[in-house]
Amino acid sequence: MNESPNTLVEYGSVIDAHQMVEPPDTTELELEPGHPGEHDAEYIARRKELFALTRKHRLEKLGPPFVTYTPEETRIWREVSPKLDELHRKYACEIYLRAKDDLAITQIEIPQLRTLSERLESETNMHLVPAEGALPYRTFYEYIAQRGFPVTQFIRHGSHPEFTPEPDMIHDCLGHVPPLMNQDYAELLTLIGKAAAATPHGDQVLALKRFSWFSIEFGLIEERGETKVFGAGILSSTGEIPHALFSPNATRRPFVTETVISTDYDPSQMQKDFFIAPSLPFLRRELESLVRRFNIPVL
Ligand SMILES: [Fe+2]
Repeated sequence: MNESPNTLVEYGSVIDAHQMVEPPDTTELELEPGHPGEHDAEYIARRKELFALTRKHRLEKLGPPFVTYTPEETRIWREVSPKLDELHRKYACEIYLRAKDDLAITQIEIPQLRTLSERLESETNMHLVPAEGALPYRTFYEYIAQRGFPVTQFIRHGSHPEFTPEPDMIHDCLGHVPPLMNQDYAELLTLIGKAAAATPHGDQVLALKRFSWFSIEFGLIEERGETKVFGAGILSSTGEIPHALFSPNATRRPFVTETVISTDYDPSQMQKDFFIAPSLPFLRRELESLVRRFNIPVL
């Protein structure tokens, strides 16, 4: 990368490299300006309640709490999950589809993360960590290094059931959780976590963040000559699935690690750059050679 060692460019702005290795902590609920729920007092009260509950469970290592969901939250789940499922059957990669069936996530009730976590633990030795919201990247990957995947337990605002400006339960449960049932996927993810948590260099953290953004989060994958959806950010959005595969406003290029780690992105917009990985073992090999090149002692 071209940036000098102390400044990096992320989301189009110059950032202090230090920020990548010593992330700030957010202790109170913050909804970004323009959030669909920002003027809804009832929604904000519910979000604050879940923020406090899940933050306590995370910090005290209590595992995901059981949550009694409201009729409105259940309504949103019932509206979005069948639409996503229809798209998944056509366009999701096999790893995802098999795992989704094995986990038996229903379109009727919002799953309890505690139950999903126990199942993952017995399959791949991964577990779910309750998260009050999007955690800073390094904090997020410190949990993953310990085989814990941070997941939210709140639901997007009901005025826009197909859109969320932040990761919510639909994104996490229908995007990230199913592939954690796959051992190869779990090992790929854990290695990104170990490397990102171990390196003292901000530019390396940023490179690993981009590697996971363009694979785990927004990756496409080749399967028997077809391009399938792999990334959780695509899988959890009825808009992103057709956009990622077919939109003329997006590019789809082979996954070349050097290009991927020097490509910036904007998480608040529909994505314009997609990379197609030839396989999961390919991503694992690429990641291992990157970690070796960076001299991060986690292999
Ligand atoms: Fe995500």
